[in-house]
Amino acid sequence: MNLLDIIGGLFPNTIAFYIAGNVFADILYISILIVMIAILAAALSINQAMRSVLRLTNPKVLKEEQNAATARRIVRKKYWSDAWNYFMGLKPIEQEKSLIIDDHQYDGIVELDNPIPVWFNALFYSTVVFAVAYLLIYHVLGWGLNQDQEYENEMARAELAKKEYLSKTANLFDEHTIEPDESGSLARNGEPLFATNCAACHGMVGEGGIGPNLTDRFWIHGGEIKDVFRTIKYGVPEKGMVPWEQTLTPGQIAELSNYILSLRDTRPPNAKGAEGVEVAAYENERNPAPANGEERAAAVGEGNG
Ligand code: HEC
Repeated sequence: MNLLDIIGGLFPNTIAFYIAGNVFADILYISILIVMIAILAAALSINQAMRSVLRLTNPKVLKEEQNAATARRIVRKKYWSDAWNYFMGLKPIEQEKSLIIDDHQYDGIVELDNPIPVWFNALFYSTVVFAVAYLLIYHVLGWGLNQDQEYENEMARAELAKKEYLSKTANLFDEHTIEPDESGSLARNGEPLFATNCAACHGMVGEGGIGPNLTDRFWIHGGEIKDVFRTIKYGVPEKGMVPWEQTLTPGQIAELSNYILSLRDTRPPNAKGAEGVEVAAYENERNPAPANGEERAAAVGEGNG
């Protein structure tokens, strides 16, 4: 560890910056610094001594010097107070007579015609300038965006962000990981998808047609969400059910699966007859969160029977 590190540690970013890192150069620089400080101190004390001599030998010079300084101070003070009065529109009390409005007096009470303060006028004129600049920038030259354009920009940006988010999350679903969506929002999004893609074969409300009824408890390929997801994704081509893997994103298939789950037991009119095997109790029906242990045992017994 050299001098540089020690001083750098004590005074980070200050004196260490000027130090060379070589011990001899360091010592030289520090000595020069000390000598310069000593010379400065010496000069100050010589100045003091000279003034003491002057006070004894020629006090008039010192007196004149002092008077000049006082005069300068007074002028400076007046300059600032004048400037302040001008800015605030104030008149010194001795000029008040000139402000009196002659025909506005009654019973010795007079009215003064005080000028509008400069600060107020400055503010007023700056609003005018601002308004003109604003008009030009936002409405004539079109350099700035007005509220509507800003709103549209924000919406477009949000739309992009949404797309990006969806393209990232859409692929999080597959037939092994999908779970029923408790919030119901996926099912809601699935409804229009179903109407455009599936209703032709499964009916507008899933009652069945060319394809089987999706609202009953009978399933050819299984009625749990994972089964439904798999059926939609890979289809049953030999039976006329299209594989949707290429057409829909995994996110859309998840929405459709949840929508189909939400159709369970809706008993639409003109429902197609049962096909496949009945599912007596679905996964989420087999394990309800019962209030007490007995009910739970009963529910489990039922599921097994
Ligand atoms: C061209 C007609 C057609 C279209 C369009 C169609 N399906 Fe199907 N779907 C079928 C047929 C036919 C079956 C029965 C397959 C079988 O018998 O194995 C079926 C079966 C299914 C099953 C399994 C039913 C069960 O009992 O296991 C589900 C779930 C399903 N479709 C969902 C969809 C969804 C969701 C869409 C829209 C994205 C869709 N289908 C579009 C004809 C179609």
